[in-house]
Amino acid sequence: MTTESGLAMKIIQITDTHFSPEKTHFNGNWAPLLTWIEDQKADLVIHTGDLSVDGADKADDITFSMDLMRQVSTPMLIVPGNHDVGHFADMSQPVNAERLKRWRDLTGGDRFVEDANGWRFVGFNALLLGHEDEEEEAQFEWLRTAFEERNGRRLALFSHKPLFVDEPHEGDTGYWGFRPAQRKRLYELMAAHDVALFASGHLHWAWKGKFENTSIVWGPSAAFVIDKLEREMPGERLVGAVVHEFNDDVTSDIVAVPGMTAHYIDDVIHEVYPQSAPKARANEEAAE
Ligand SMILES: [Fe+2]
Ligand SMILES: [Fe+2]
Repeated sequence: MTTESGLAMKIIQITDTHFSPEKTHFNGNWAPLLTWIEDQKADLVIHTGDLSVDGADKADDITFSMDLMRQVSTPMLIVPGNHDVGHFADMSQPVNAERLKRWRDLTGGDRFVEDANGWRFVGFNALLLGHEDEEEEAQFEWLRTAFEERNGRRLALFSHKPLFVDEPHEGDTGYWGFRPAQRKRLYELMAAHDVALFASGHLHWAWKGKFENTSIVWGPSAAFVIDKLEREMPGERLVGAVVHEFNDDVTSDIVAVPGMTAHYIDDVIHEVYPQSAPKARANEEAAE
Protein backbone atom coordinates (compact mmCIF):
# COMPACT_ATOMS: atom_id res chain seq x y z
CA MET A 1 0.00 0.00 0.00
CA THR A 2 1.05 3.64 -0.30
CA THR A 3 0.56 6.33 2.31
CA GLU A 4 -1.90 9.23 2.09
CA SER A 5 0.92 11.75 2.33
CA GLY A 6 3.48 9.69 0.45
CA LEU A 7 5.87 10.26 3.38
CA ALA A 8 5.27 9.05 6.92
CA MET A 9 3.03 6.07 7.44
CA LYS A 10 0.42 6.72 10.12
CA ILE A 11 -1.22 3.77 11.84
CA ILE A 12 -3.93 4.00 14.50
CA GLN A 13 -3.88 1.08 16.94
CA ILE A 14 -7.10 0.30 18.78
CA THR A 15 -7.55 -2.63 21.11
CA ASP A 16 -9.79 -4.39 23.62
CA THR A 17 -13.06 -2.83 22.50
CA HIS A 18 -15.11 -5.67 24.11
CA PHE A 19 -18.28 -5.05 22.09
CA SER A 20 -21.43 -7.18 22.22
CA PRO A 21 -25.04 -6.83 21.05
CA GLU A 22 -26.18 -8.39 24.33
CA LYS A 23 -23.74 -7.02 26.91
CA THR A 24 -23.77 -3.42 25.80
CA HIS A 25 -21.69 -1.92 28.64
CA PHE A 26 -18.85 -0.60 26.45
CA ASN A 27 -20.62 -0.07 23.11
CA GLY A 28 -21.06 3.65 23.86
CA ASN A 29 -17.33 4.23 23.35
CA TRP A 30 -17.60 3.33 19.67
CA ALA A 31 -19.21 6.57 18.43
CA PRO A 32 -16.49 8.87 19.84
CA LEU A 33 -13.75 6.44 18.82
CA LEU A 34 -15.08 6.21 15.26
CA THR A 35 -15.30 10.00 14.98
CA TRP A 36 -11.75 10.37 16.25
CA ILE A 37 -10.39 7.67 13.93
CA GLU A 38 -11.99 9.34 10.90
CA ASP A 39 -10.50 12.71 11.95
CA GLN A 40 -7.02 11.22 12.17
CA LYS A 41 -6.81 10.53 8.41
CA ALA A 42 -4.50 7.59 9.08
CA ASP A 43 -3.22 5.22 6.42
CA LEU A 44 -4.24 2.12 8.35
CA VAL A 45 -6.05 1.05 11.52
CA ILE A 46 -4.90 -2.05 13.41
CA HIS A 47 -7.08 -3.70 16.05
CA THR A 48 -5.02 -5.84 18.44
CA GLY A 49 -7.85 -8.06 19.64
CA ASP A 50 -10.61 -8.59 22.16
CA LEU A 51 -13.03 -7.03 19.70
CA SER A 52 -15.86 -8.76 21.49
CA VAL A 53 -17.12 -9.58 24.96
CA ASP A 54 -17.49 -13.26 24.16
CA GLY A 55 -16.72 -14.11 20.56
CA ALA A 56 -15.01 -17.24 21.87
CA ASP A 57 -18.50 -18.70 22.34
CA LYS A 58 -20.89 -16.37 20.50
CA ALA A 59 -20.77 -15.80 16.76
CA ASP A 60 -23.14 -12.84 17.22
CA ASP A 61 -20.53 -11.03 19.31
CA ILE A 62 -17.99 -11.31 16.49
CA THR A 63 -20.47 -10.35 13.78
CA PHE A 64 -21.69 -7.34 15.77
CA SER A 65 -18.11 -6.14 16.44
CA MET A 66 -17.05 -6.63 12.82
CA ASP A 67 -20.08 -4.65 11.60
CA LEU A 68 -18.87 -1.76 13.74
CA MET A 69 -15.30 -2.08 12.41
CA ARG A 70 -16.63 -1.89 8.84
CA GLN A 71 -17.95 1.62 9.59
CA VAL A 72 -14.33 2.85 9.51
CA SER A 73 -13.39 4.27 6.10
CA THR A 74 -9.63 3.71 6.68
CA PRO A 75 -8.33 0.23 5.80
CA MET A 76 -8.21 -2.00 8.87
CA LEU A 77 -6.28 -5.10 9.88
CA ILE A 78 -7.25 -7.21 12.88
CA VAL A 79 -5.77 -9.91 15.09
CA PRO A 80 -7.94 -11.77 17.63
CA GLY A 81 -7.82 -11.69 21.44
CA ASN A 82 -8.57 -14.35 24.03
CA HIS A 83 -12.20 -13.20 24.27
CA ASP A 84 -12.51 -13.71 20.48
CA VAL A 85 -10.85 -17.13 19.95
CA GLY A 86 -10.19 -18.56 23.43
CA HIS A 87 -7.05 -18.99 25.51
CA PHE A 88 -4.77 -21.68 27.01
CA ALA A 89 -5.82 -25.34 27.07
CA ASP A 90 -6.27 -25.38 30.86
CA MET A 91 -8.64 -22.41 30.83
CA SER A 92 -12.44 -22.35 30.52
CA GLN A 93 -12.48 -21.43 26.81
CA PRO A 94 -9.46 -23.07 25.18
CA VAL A 95 -8.51 -22.20 21.60
CA ASN A 96 -9.77 -25.10 19.47
CA ALA A 97 -10.65 -25.87 15.86
CA GLU A 98 -14.26 -24.74 16.26
CA ARG A 99 -13.36 -21.38 17.78
CA LEU A 100 -10.62 -20.72 15.23
CA LYS A 101 -12.93 -21.62 12.33
CA ARG A 102 -15.66 -19.33 13.67
CA TRP A 103 -13.27 -16.41 13.94
CA ARG A 104 -11.61 -17.01 10.57
CA ASP A 105 -14.93 -17.49 8.75
CA LEU A 106 -16.42 -14.29 10.21
CA THR A 107 -13.38 -12.02 9.95
CA GLY A 108 -11.24 -13.41 7.12
CA GLY A 109 -8.20 -14.48 9.14
CA ASP A 110 -6.14 -14.26 12.32
CA ARG A 111 -2.84 -12.81 11.02
CA PHE A 112 -1.54 -10.38 8.40
CA VAL A 113 1.49 -9.01 6.59
CA GLU A 114 1.35 -5.53 5.05
CA ASP A 115 4.22 -3.66 3.41
CA ALA A 116 4.53 0.12 3.00
CA ASN A 117 7.29 2.75 2.86
CA GLY A 118 10.18 0.52 3.84
CA TRP A 119 8.21 -1.15 6.62
CA ARG A 120 6.69 -4.58 7.04
CA PHE A 121 3.72 -4.74 9.46
CA VAL A 122 3.08 -8.20 10.82
CA GLY A 123 0.10 -9.17 12.98
CA PHE A 124 -0.19 -12.63 14.50
CA ASN A 125 -2.59 -14.68 16.60
CA ALA A 126 -1.07 -14.54 20.09
CA LEU A 127 -3.57 -17.06 21.43
CA LEU A 128 -2.07 -19.91 19.39
CA LEU A 129 1.13 -19.68 21.44
CA GLY A 130 1.38 -22.14 24.31
CA HIS A 131 -0.62 -25.00 22.82
CA GLU A 132 2.37 -26.78 21.25
CA ASP A 133 0.23 -28.10 18.41
CA GLU A 134 0.14 -27.88 14.62
CA GLU A 135 -1.56 -24.48 14.61
CA GLU A 136 1.20 -23.01 16.76
CA GLU A 137 3.95 -24.59 14.66
CA ALA A 138 2.37 -23.42 11.40
CA GLN A 139 2.16 -19.85 12.67
CA PHE A 140 5.79 -19.85 13.85
CA GLU A 141 6.77 -21.07 10.39
CA TRP A 142 4.62 -18.33 8.83
CA LEU A 143 6.28 -15.72 11.11
CA ARG A 144 9.77 -16.97 10.25
CA THR A 145 8.99 -16.69 6.53
CA ALA A 146 7.43 -13.22 6.95
CA PHE A 147 10.59 -12.06 8.75
CA GLU A 148 13.02 -13.66 6.33
CA GLU A 149 11.26 -12.20 3.31
CA ARG A 150 11.25 -8.64 4.61
CA ASN A 151 13.86 -7.59 2.02
CA GLY A 152 15.48 -4.92 4.15
CA ARG A 153 12.19 -3.51 5.41
CA ARG A 154 11.98 -2.74 9.12
CA LEU A 155 9.48 -4.84 11.08
CA ALA A 156 6.60 -3.72 13.31
CA LEU A 157 4.75 -6.49 15.14
CA PHE A 158 1.16 -6.45 16.38
CA SER A 159 -0.13 -9.00 18.89
CA HIS A 160 -2.96 -9.25 21.40
CA LYS A 161 -0.60 -10.30 24.18
CA PRO A 162 2.45 -8.32 25.31
CA LEU A 163 5.97 -9.59 24.68
CA PHE A 164 6.45 -9.67 28.46
CA VAL A 165 4.61 -8.22 31.46
CA ASP A 166 7.16 -7.26 34.14
CA GLU A 167 10.55 -8.54 32.99
CA PRO A 168 11.81 -9.76 29.60
CA HIS A 169 12.94 -13.09 31.06
CA GLU A 170 10.16 -13.58 33.63
CA GLY A 171 8.53 -16.96 34.25
CA ASP A 172 4.97 -17.93 33.40
CA THR A 173 2.63 -14.98 33.95
CA GLY A 174 -0.49 -17.11 33.48
CA TYR A 175 -3.40 -15.24 31.94
CA TRP A 176 -1.42 -12.13 31.03
CA GLY A 177 1.56 -13.20 28.95
CA PHE A 178 3.25 -15.73 26.72
CA ARG A 179 4.75 -18.81 28.29
CA PRO A 180 8.55 -18.70 28.56
CA ALA A 181 9.22 -21.30 25.83
CA GLN A 182 7.13 -19.48 23.23
CA ARG A 183 8.46 -16.08 24.29
CA LYS A 184 11.98 -17.43 23.78
CA ARG A 185 11.07 -18.45 20.23
CA LEU A 186 9.77 -14.93 19.57
CA TYR A 187 12.99 -13.45 20.99
CA GLU A 188 15.09 -15.68 18.73
CA LEU A 189 13.14 -14.62 15.65
CA MET A 190 13.32 -10.97 16.67
CA ALA A 191 17.06 -11.10 17.38
CA ALA A 192 17.76 -12.18 13.81
CA HIS A 193 15.80 -9.28 12.29
CA ASP A 194 15.21 -5.55 12.59
CA VAL A 195 12.09 -5.35 14.78
CA ALA A 196 11.45 -1.67 15.59
CA LEU A 197 8.10 -2.10 17.36
CA PHE A 198 6.11 -4.68 19.31
CA ALA A 199 2.58 -3.33 19.95
CA SER A 200 -0.03 -5.21 21.95
CA GLY A 201 -3.26 -4.98 23.97
CA HIS A 202 -4.79 -7.41 26.51
CA LEU A 203 -3.46 -5.87 29.73
CA HIS A 204 -5.83 -2.88 29.82
CA TRP A 205 -2.86 -0.76 30.89
CA ALA A 206 -1.20 1.83 28.60
CA TRP A 207 2.60 1.80 28.67
CA LYS A 208 5.68 2.38 26.52
CA GLY A 209 9.05 0.72 27.03
CA LYS A 210 12.02 -0.82 25.27
CA PHE A 211 13.51 -4.28 24.87
CA GLU A 212 16.90 -4.52 23.14
CA ASN A 213 16.34 -2.44 19.95
CA THR A 214 12.56 -2.84 19.98
CA SER A 215 10.06 -0.24 21.22
CA ILE A 216 7.29 -1.81 23.26
CA VAL A 217 3.79 -0.30 23.34
CA TRP A 218 0.81 -1.52 25.36
CA GLY A 219 -2.21 0.04 23.72
CA PRO A 220 -4.98 1.29 26.03
CA SER A 221 -8.29 -0.56 25.92
CA ALA A 222 -11.15 1.26 24.24
CA ALA A 223 -13.54 -0.24 26.80
CA PHE A 224 -12.42 -0.45 30.39
CA VAL A 225 -9.63 -0.15 32.94
CA ILE A 226 -9.04 -2.33 35.99
CA ASP A 227 -9.17 -0.89 39.50
CA LYS A 228 -8.45 -3.44 42.25
CA LEU A 229 -9.56 -6.63 40.54
CA GLU A 230 -6.02 -7.48 39.44
CA ARG A 231 -2.58 -6.45 40.55
CA GLU A 232 -1.10 -3.09 39.59
CA MET A 233 0.91 -3.06 36.39
CA PRO A 234 3.25 -0.52 34.84
CA GLY A 235 1.70 2.35 32.92
CA GLU A 236 -1.55 4.28 33.06
CA ARG A 237 -5.21 3.48 33.53
CA LEU A 238 -6.42 5.04 30.33
CA VAL A 239 -9.11 4.44 27.74
CA GLY A 240 -8.08 5.49 24.25
CA ALA A 241 -5.89 4.49 21.31
CA VAL A 242 -2.33 4.78 19.94
CA VAL A 243 -1.00 6.80 17.02
CA HIS A 244 2.10 5.18 15.49
CA GLU A 245 4.08 7.18 12.92
CA PHE A 246 6.62 5.35 10.79
CA ASN A 247 9.44 7.30 9.16
CA ASP A 248 13.00 5.97 9.39
CA ASP A 249 12.03 5.04 12.93
CA VAL A 250 8.71 4.74 14.73
CA THR A 251 7.18 7.15 17.25
CA SER A 252 4.11 6.10 19.22
CA ASP A 253 1.72 8.38 21.11
CA ILE A 254 -0.79 6.95 23.54
CA VAL A 255 -3.90 9.09 23.28
CA ALA A 256 -6.95 9.62 25.53
CA VAL A 257 -9.74 9.89 22.96
CA PRO A 258 -12.26 12.68 23.67
CA GLY A 259 -15.73 11.54 24.66
CA MET A 260 -14.82 8.00 25.62
CA THR A 261 -15.67 6.72 29.11
CA ALA A 262 -13.08 4.86 31.20
CA HIS A 263 -15.35 2.19 32.66
CA TYR A 264 -14.03 0.18 35.60
CA ILE A 265 -14.44 -3.53 34.98
CA ASP A 266 -14.65 -4.02 38.76
CA ASP A 267 -18.09 -2.35 38.74
CA VAL A 268 -19.63 -4.55 36.07
CA ILE A 269 -17.69 -7.81 36.07
CA HIS A 270 -20.61 -9.75 37.56
CA GLU A 271 -22.65 -8.84 34.50
CA VAL A 272 -19.99 -8.87 31.77
CA TYR A 273 -17.74 -11.76 32.84
CA PRO A 274 -19.62 -13.62 35.60
CA GLN A 275 -17.22 -16.56 35.27
CA SER A 276 -14.44 -14.25 36.57
CA ALA A 277 -16.60 -12.78 39.33
CA PRO A 278 -15.76 -15.32 42.06
CA LYS A 279 -12.14 -14.28 41.74
CA ALA A 280 -13.25 -10.67 42.06
CA ARG A 281 -15.16 -11.44 45.23
CA ALA A 282 -12.17 -13.29 46.68
CA ASN A 283 -9.98 -10.24 46.02
CA GLU A 284 -12.52 -7.99 47.73
CA GLU A 285 -12.60 -10.21 50.78
CA ALA A 286 -8.81 -10.34 50.92
CA ALA A 287 -8.68 -6.54 50.82
CA GLU A 288 -11.12 -6.14 53.70
FE1 LIG B 1 -9.28 -7.25 26.86
FE1 LIG C 1 -7.35 -10.08 26.29
